[in-house]
Amino acid sequence: MFEKDIKKVLFTEEEISARCKELGRQITEDYAGKNVLLVALLRGSVPFLAELIKYIDLDIEYDFMDVTSYEGTESTGDIRILKDLDDSVQGLDLLVVEDIVDTGRTLKTVIKTLLNKGANSVKIVTLLEKPSRHVEDIDPEYVGFIVDNEFVVGYGMDFNQRYRCLPYVAVLKDEVYQ
Ligand code: IMP
Repeated sequence: MFEKDIKKVLFTEEEISARCKELGRQITEDYAGKNVLLVALLRGSVPFLAELIKYIDLDIEYDFMDVTSYEGTESTGDIRILKDLDDSVQGLDLLVVEDIVDTGRTLKTVIKTLLNKGANSVKIVTLLEKPSRHVEDIDPEYVGFIVDNEFVVGYGMDFNQRYRCLPYVAVLKDEVYQ
């Protein structure tokens, strides 16, 4: 039903799945012998998490955090925790799962929070990264794809809570963003 709103598809379902396979293999190698807790940030990372975990061949667990920092289309860095993790992360190796790293403010604060809670290590896996938009010194260890400075939707990412369920990543027509 959303086809009429799409300007261009950036990454198809097949391309995302293939990239998740590569990332999953890499994570499997890097964390061999360790117990990893994936910390998925709601709500955008859910489709990515679901695809990625198929390809991580380790004894992983996952939990969810919901944080908010967005005012309009720009994050403020002043994040509020809407839902915290269910269990302690003391001494654990954490992999934060994110849909897109834009300014980096959200992740910077989330990482600080998790380290303060006693995590042993905190790394990031993100489906997308917009390096040109970073205002924080943040360098995700695992990145699906780099994108330009464009607002994207689909595969969990929304515009005003819509378009999350698209099975691909796309840019909307200019008039839809008005
Ligand atoms: P940051 O704190 O600026 O890095 O914001 C990261 C969060 O902003 C992501 O988890 C998304 O929820 C949201 N976001 C940033 N860029 C986009 C975009 O292009 N489309 C949809 N959501 C975005």
